[in-house]
Amino acid sequence: MIKPETIDKIFDAARIEEVVGDFVTLKKRGVNLLGLCPFHNEKTPSFTVSPAKGIFKCFGCGKGGNAVNFIMEHEHFSYPEALKYLAGKYGIEVEEEKPSPEQQEALDEKESLFNLTAFAQKHFEETLHNTEEGKAIGLSYFKERGFTTETIKKFGLGYSLNNWDDFTSKALKHGYKKELLEKSSLVRTKDHQTYDTFRARVTFPIHNLSGRVLGFGARILTQDKKKPKYINTAESEIYHKSKVLYGLYFAKSAIVKEDNCYLTEGYTDVISLYQAGIENVISSSGTSLTTEQIKLIRRYTTNITLLFDGDPAGIKAAFRGIDMILEEGMNVKIVLFPDGEDPDSYARNYRPAEVKEFIKKNARDFISFKTNLLLEETQNDPIKKAALIKEIALSISQIPEPIARALYVQKSSDLLRIEEKLLMAEINKQRRERFKKRTGDPSAKSEQSWQPDETEITSDKQIEKGIHVDKQEKELIRLLLLFHDHEVQFEEKDENGQTTEFKYKVSDYIVDELTDDEITFDNLDCQKIFNEFVNARKQNVTLSDQYFFNHQQPSISRMAIDLTSSQHILSEQWENKHGIFVNKEEDNIKNILVEMLYALKLKKLEQQIYKNKEILQDEKDEEQILIHLENIKNLESIKTLIARELSRIVIQ
Ligand code: CTP
Ligand code: MN
Repeated sequence: MIKPETIDKIFDAARIEEVVGDFVTLKKRGVNLLGLCPFHNEKTPSFTVSPAKGIFKCFGCGKGGNAVNFIMEHEHFSYPEALKYLAGKYGIEVEEEKPSPEQQEALDEKESLFNLTAFAQKHFEETLHNTEEGKAIGLSYFKERGFTTETIKKFGLGYSLNNWDDFTSKALKHGYKKELLEKSSLVRTKDHQTYDTFRARVTFPIHNLSGRVLGFGARILTQDKKKPKYINTAESEIYHKSKVLYGLYFAKSAIVKEDNCYLTEGYTDVISLYQAGIENVISSSGTSLTTEQIKLIRRYTTNITLLFDGDPAGIKAAFRGIDMILEEGMNVKIVLFPDGEDPDSYARNYRPAEVKEFIKKNARDFISFKTNLLLEETQNDPIKKAALIKEIALSISQIPEPIARALYVQKSSDLLRIEEKLLMAEINKQRRERFKKRTGDPSAKSEQSWQPDETEITSDKQIEKGIHVDKQEKELIRLLLLFHDHEVQFEEKDENGQTTEFKYKVSDYIVDELTDDEITFDNLDCQKIFNEFVNARKQNVTLSDQYFFNHQQPSISRMAIDLTSSQHILSEQWENKHGIFVNKEEDNIKNILVEMLYALKLKKLEQQIYKNKEILQDEKDEEQILIHLENIKNLESIKTLIARELSRIVIQ
């Protein structure tokens, strides 16, 4: 844990133009600097750096942020990693908070586990290369599989002797405690006897993103059906199988370069493809694909291609993977290998160019994949065809983005020869059902990936029917960020007809209005920014303009920069003309502000009405129906009032 004071120092020291300048050639343009965006391909520069604001913004791809965001994005660093990088660049000493004794103990244990696992990796590797048994059994096995010495070294493969305690005794001799050996699951105890977990197996070390070994998969070399083919490291302080992807450490830069990630089923698929020159390849290790793993991939690309066996198990795994990937808003393609082949065997039997060609030729999007697979058996069988349509609707219904959903509807309605309307009705039904299931579950609320207000696409217009507030929420936060310390003047008439004028700070006005009406934001980052203004009001302090740009939560700084750095505000053209655009909005701030507040309130009401109506659709209980009807009536009448106010302001 880096001390907050150190973080402040780093933010103070980091000059955006210097930090970016290490990676991008920047040319001066008025008060800003301009260069070619490192995050997307472009020929004419639209990547702008504003030294005055301490931020960058690309008007081509939309990426923006402060110096820390830039390093996180460009180097794929975590937040602390980016801070440490910048501390190094500016010669700032990183002071870490002194952990509590318990924290220290946990840290020490983690570090010792890392240490022991690295020791084990070295031991197994040496055993493979330098012992008679290792060479005769382990190494010859890998060679038989077609792995070159270079590949074997690169992936740190190893061998554990066919011996009960070769590793255990060596580790004990080196001073590792027995409890630690057991915690790492490298050593197990049965009937008071300890033994090497991976004995008589070849070992595949599993690395984390910075290349440290977390654990192993260990493959048996005999045909013993009674023993598991692989034994994997058990869950520990450092190894969480659902959050780790095998090969990602080696693959990550190729994934970014290719903007695609090949996801396979096993260790050997990864290694064989890598050796064949396909380096953007990974697999999950000893577990079926998890959402956490998909999110991990998303740090590098939004495109995943599944490379699976064509056997029933592979197809089943592909079906599951497809829906999970779509649900994360990512793109998925599928390549099935001919029956009996997997990526590993294919890469062994064909030349690298042929493997690449095969993958390129056979990559299907999920609709063609499901259709091709199922259509054959459904020929002329209406019941089976209905099941196929349901199956495809299920996948499409996972996609959070409405436009993408509409496009897939178009495509599959062509392929399946079914009306878009029907398909859409099925998709909407599935989304509703899932929503109901999820809202019945209290944990559903925290899930961001599925938003109830974006539910339905109408068949003819292909636009959303649900109520979005995202636009209004962001617009209000934008005003808050840009004009929070401005003052607006209001007039109030008392009973005697006396008008008094009073001034209100914009931030205070928004805070009071929203808190009075108990309005909360759907967008979590908007809510967080708003909360900071609420606190500032309570403590009677004014937040500086830079405060949110340099916010220590990356998602917040990014949102603040995105919302406030429109091209007009940032580009020199406007700044040189004394910010005509900004001034215009400033002059009119009171009206804009009131209008936006009403617009947000109106949307929030519509949202509530919509929700009530949705519930009503399936409600059987008469009393409940009456309650909801009453709710809707009340909400509608407030809505009319606000809508009237709003039109008055807009007309003004
Ligand atoms: N796996 C596992 N435990 C098993 C079998 C499989 O953890 N008992 C995991 C491993 O991560 C393995 C993946 O599932 O890599 C795929 O299994 P499989 O295709 O059987 O293994 P391969 O790695 O392809 O092994 P090989 O080609 O050597 O048979
Ligand atoms: Mn295999």
